Amino acid sequence: MLRRPDVCLLVFCLFGATQALYKQWIPDTNYENRSNWNTGVVPCGRDRVVFPAPGSVYVGTAHSVQEMTLPPNGELLLHAGAGFYIGGAEEPGCGAGAVARFRDSDPLRWFDPTLWHAALTPDDLGKGRHVFSVHEESVPCERDDVVFEAATSFRVDTSSSGGGAVTVRSVSVLGETFSRQADLARYLGSASGRAQFHGGSALAVEPSGCDDPAGCVCDNSANRRRICEGVACPPALPCEVPLRPAGHCCDVCGAVVSVRFAAGFSLLSYRRRVQRLFLDLPAYGAVQLGMSRVPGAPLPMGLLRGGAADHIQVVVLDGGAGLVAEALARDLLADVDAHGAELGIAGAEIKASSGNGTVGPWGALVGAFFGVLLLVLVGVGVVVLRRRGWRPPSIAMPTMPSMPAMPWPRRATDDEALGGPLDAGFENPMFDTPGLMSAVPSIYGAEMSPISMTTSGVHFVNPAYEDHETDLNV
Ligand SMILES: *[C@@H]1O[C@H](CO)[C@@H](O)[C@H](O)[C@H]1NC(C)=O
Repeated sequence: MLRRPDVCLLVFCLFGATQALYKQWIPDTNYENRSNWNTGVVPCGRDRVVFPAPGSVYVGTAHSVQEMTLPPNGELLLHAGAGFYIGGAEEPGCGAGAVARFRDSDPLRWFDPTLWHAALTPDDLGKGRHVFSVHEESVPCERDDVVFEAATSFRVDTSSSGGGAVTVRSVSVLGETFSRQADLARYLGSASGRAQFHGGSALAVEPSGCDDPAGCVCDNSANRRRICEGVACPPALPCEVPLRPAGHCCDVCGAVVSVRFAAGFSLLSYRRRVQRLFLDLPAYGAVQLGMSRVPGAPLPMGLLRGGAADHIQVVVLDGGAGLVAEALARDLLADVDAHGAELGIAGAEIKASSGNGTVGPWGALVGAFFGVLLLVLVGVGVVVLRRRGWRPPSIAMPTMPSMPAMPWPRRATDDEALGGPLDAGFENPMFDTPGLMSAVPSIYGAEMSPISMTTSGVHFVNPAYEDHETDLNV
């Protein structure tokens, strides 16, 4: 028998945590990440290090430098044993000495869909098992949990369209999770919070998760312009009828399956089923599949407005002309035909970029209605014209040779734009001890007095700018 708290926990695990996604910010401002240096390498003993912009920088180990220039204010987060020393110029492999400038992370925007990874669980995030999402859903949704990887620093511009607060379910920073607004607000006001988050909109948490087993609609449409701004769509596509999935910024080649769900449907179980039955097959190894609940689209010509219900949109892409994606979409359709009733699925329709889709019952009905209407109108027109003495002209139809299908070259940018196979997580064994800054390294002697240390980091006030910044001195 379960005691009551266990029951609550179980319910929380089943519904509260799993129907939305975990979204992880990708870029870091770690000292040891060589892509953060203009030289392309981590500076060594003969180099002069310059931090031109304010921010938060995580330092994992000890480094020797020739000289260091700090911005007006900022934060160095030192892992246990990390620090800086002068006099390592004889390091083997250190070049002739250069000026190494740290990258300015100010332009990196929260609403850039290319800067996030999504996963079903925190464990999947850690193991690099990411799920694909359309662009609007690649940035965190209101019910998602946001993760900034432990043992990394970062800087993100949270400005939203219209300046409204950016709300999510929880935010994890440096291994600490904030799910209450008061706690988050306190953190955002701290020196670390101000070094990591900037921009015209506040970040907020609203701890109501998504407790509908059929999932929740991710409504980021208010920020659509901002989200699509940073996305480079391919200029030409190698398919007949490119598709535009709901929430995506670009046309794509592939297939979109609309799944109508009924009572008993679970988005998570269906995701797992599709993964196990299809995505794990070698034939579909390169396929990207995004699955989410989207609002019902209005029917054509405004007929029966509001009658269309939410459905599950399954976007299938293969990075090429879409034929592999289409084959998978047809497998999904066959699975729904065979097992729909058990899965809580009332039906499914497919749209494919090869132009061979099936239309749902409503689409067929509306199409048939307009088809009949057109026939009647043409018939009436011909009768009227004939009465007035008009004879139809005879038209010679030339026979058309059928065009051979031309495969287009596959472009690497397709993969990049969609966060595809190039998406690879990494694990850094250096950071497996999250007990940060527990020991104050002795190499950081008293001679660096403008820098103050707390258990949460090293906050410095650059003496050259003392007038402007006094409140950071912890
Ligand atoms: C280094 O930073 C880049 C860009 O921010 C990021 O994509 C990459 O994952 C980081 N690499 C490592 C090893 O942390």
